[in-house]
Amino acid sequence: MRRPVVIGSAFVVVALAVSVGAYVYMRTAMHGFSARAEPSSTERMLATYARATAMPSSAKTMKNPVQGSPEVLHESMAHFADHCSVCHANNGTGNTMFGNGLYPKPPDLRLARTQDLTDGEIFYIVENGIRMSGMPAFGGSDSSEDSWKLVYFIRHLPRLTPTEETQMESLNPKTPEEAQEDREEEQFLNGGEPSAKTPTMDHMKGHKQ
Ligand code: HEC
Repeated sequence: MRRPVVIGSAFVVVALAVSVGAYVYMRTAMHGFSARAEPSSTERMLATYARATAMPSSAKTMKNPVQGSPEVLHESMAHFADHCSVCHANNGTGNTMFGNGLYPKPPDLRLARTQDLTDGEIFYIVENGIRMSGMPAFGGSDSSEDSWKLVYFIRHLPRLTPTEETQMESLNPKTPEEAQEDREEEQFLNGGEPSAKTPTMDHMKGHKQ
């Protein structure tokens, strides 16, 4: 290549990099780094692309080794209420205090973006999390069965009934104040008799972190 051509192309590359940098700087300077913002469509496209490329192709074809049953569904529902609802909401919409404060925000798990993933891809995400997002990795030495069960629950989310949703509310983690309030309410309903019942920890099984 002739020298003026090389210099010319280098100039174009530098000029392009400077303008992209200036554009990004202007945008962040104008909008700050707030996690309250909604990702732009370009960002959304890049994030979905990054998610797809970061996933090993072997994950796509993995089959759920757990046999589905009403018990499995119930267990995974309790598990989801305990570990996932804080960000994803019991019904999967992501409309929670934590969910709304994250960037990117948790997507509505009932919609095509999630439901079109294969079982193996959903399992992989639950086990490994998503980098540079609020989605934690839940994988550990004895977690894989729990994660496969959660895949069933995520598939069930679009058909979640109002009764199931109410059931989940009682399984959501409680602050000590909420637990105390519940005990007092129960005491009141029992006619003021102090209740011997302590809050149940049954749903704390699996994904023990
Ligand atoms: C601290 C908040 C938080 C918790 C807790 C959490 N998630 Fe997430 N999750 C996220 C965020 C944020 C995303 C979106 C990440 C992105 O778009 O890159 C996400 C994404 C996902 C996705 C991918 C959906 C898609 O369409 O890309 C799945 C599946 C998922 N979460 C399942 C779970 C399960 C199951 C649990 C509980 C075991 C859980 N999450 C707990 C924040 C959370």
